[in-house]
Amino acid sequence: MKVTLSIIKADIGSIGGHIKPSQKVVEAVESHVKKFGKTLFIDSFIEYTGDDIAILLTHKRGAGNKEIHKLCWDALYSGADVAKKQGLYGAGQDLLVDAFSGNIKGMGPQVAEIEMEERGAESFLMFCADKTEPGAFNLPLYLGFCDPMHNAGLLLSPAVKKGYKFVIMDVEHTIKDKVIELHSPEEIYDIAVLLRDNGKYIVESVWSRASGEQVVAASTTRLHNIAGKYVGKDDPVMLVRTQKDFPATGEILSPYTIGHYVAGFMRGSHNGPLMPVKKNSTISYFDGPPIVSCMAFCVQNGKLTEPADAFDHPYWDYVRNNVSQKAEWIRRQGFSGPGMLPMSELEYTGVTDTLKILEKRFTVREK
Ligand code: F6R
Ligand code: MG
Ligand code: MG
Repeated sequence: MKVTLSIIKADIGSIGGHIKPSQKVVEAVESHVKKFGKTLFIDSFIEYTGDDIAILLTHKRGAGNKEIHKLCWDALYSGADVAKKQGLYGAGQDLLVDAFSGNIKGMGPQVAEIEMEERGAESFLMFCADKTEPGAFNLPLYLGFCDPMHNAGLLLSPAVKKGYKFVIMDVEHTIKDKVIELHSPEEIYDIAVLLRDNGKYIVESVWSRASGEQVVAASTTRLHNIAGKYVGKDDPVMLVRTQKDFPATGEILSPYTIGHYVAGFMRGSHNGPLMPVKKNSTISYFDGPPIVSCMAFCVQNGKLTEPADAFDHPYWDYVRNNVSQKAEWIRRQGFSGPGMLPMSELEYTGVTDTLKILEKRFTVREK
């Protein structure tokens, strides 16, 4: 059976700054989805990661479907109304336009969707990240799909060994989608050349070369590029199908042991390590650190199981401790060098405003 998985996620207001949405706001989103979506989707799941609420829907309407996008838009809008009434911080923050216009992409929320022919046993992972940007998934995807140090299937499974097609987007090109297709294993160094630059090149999708099926869909919107000014980081979402011809769940999770440094953290303007967290985790230290949650599901005829919380295991407590230490190490150097992002990536204008003023006070010595 053909089924579409859609994740749509946004920050529509949170408690005490950018920590987490209130229970009432989450309930408002959930009740709107359930009340008005009955005839549109097969199953749904709602959670939050930091200050963002994510809606997962299964349906038969394909990717980019207007009714599905509108349902989520309206649900987030009704949640934002509750957030406003409760006086939550940043109420409606990610809903950048007043009226829905056909497709939620580019309107604020993050979107990832896969239309697929359901396998007999269909396992998939739903990743949601907060206080970071879409490029945060570049390294884990590269390692999970191209590196036998994380993906034992590259040695052990003939189907996995055939490799994958990466579709990578240049998100600085905002007029139209600018994409390239590169193939592992023969082009892994070219893939790495692009994926080292998390702010410019982002993995949009990954496809199996053994079966031609889509394995990954990731959100690629960088509103900073679209709006040309501060609108926060774009806290990405991602779907990854696992097992059989695809990497195993544990192979996809393995790279998150690194806690690699990503852009985001305080004021979306610093580098911080990406911490794998449990469902409904909050934000704290230095408005961070950047976090990622992962819900694992099976789906049959569009019906979801309950999620298995992939980072809720004693092993990841150990990782979280290591990542906390990495967070402290980089914070010790404050604004210096890689502690803060380069000028082009800062989410506030304070530094450039100050530089403009100071520039006038510089003098050039004649000798
Ligand atoms: C980062 C983030 C926070 C805010 C910071 C200041 O993505 O959400 O670090 O940037 O708390 O918030 P404002 O400017 O909204 O007062
Ligand atoms: Mg926020
Ligand atoms: Mg957020």
